[in-house]
Amino acid sequence: MLQKILVAVDGSEYSKKALDFACELAAKFNASLHIVHVPQGAAADRVMVLGGASVMIHAGREQIETAGRTLIDAASKIAEEKLPGNVTTALRGGDPAAEIVASAKEYEADCIVIGSRGLGDFGGLLLGSVSHKVNHSAPCTCITVH
Ligand SMILES: Nc1ncnc2c1ncn2[C@@H]1O[C@H](COP(=O)(O)OP(=O)(O)OP(=O)(O)O)[C@@H](O)[C@H]1O
Ligand SMILES: [Mg+2]
Repeated sequence: MLQKILVAVDGSEYSKKALDFACELAAKFNASLHIVHVPQGAAADRVMVLGGASVMIHAGREQIETAGRTLIDAASKIAEEKLPGNVTTALRGGDPAAEIVASAKEYEADCIVIGSRGLGDFGGLLLGSVSHKVNHSAPCTCITVH
């Protein structure tokens, strides 16, 4: 039933939780996992942490891309340990929600796993804007990890 799972990571603790959940799900169903990250510019410097990799990113484009690569490599390493040989990754450019949905279509994902919140600052909200948009336009089941 579940053969292809896509997980979106942004470097937040929420997306780490989504990654862990997606790995468990993929292991259970013997599915393959596709990890997607869309590097984003930051209004201010920020730190991204995932699986022991801590990256300080500044506003520069090159650094953002390098940080994105480091982030997705760290996510891939975590997933590979649990799903050896069943993990692929993609770094994409553009609007995060649109790119997550487009990659789910291209990958023909059966399921998208996404965090409820991300790196944004509005702690009071239940869902971040990327989560909200992906849930609305997902071509398949979307699991929001809280
Ligand atoms: N640039 C991105 N690349 C890949 N996945 C992302 C990206 N941004 C968000 N996500 C995914 O969406 C989830 C929710 O993040 P979202 O951005 O919606 O919340 P937020 O950052 O708290 O709010 P907002 O961005 O609206 O201020 C993340 O946990 C992650 O799974
Ligand atoms: Mg965000």
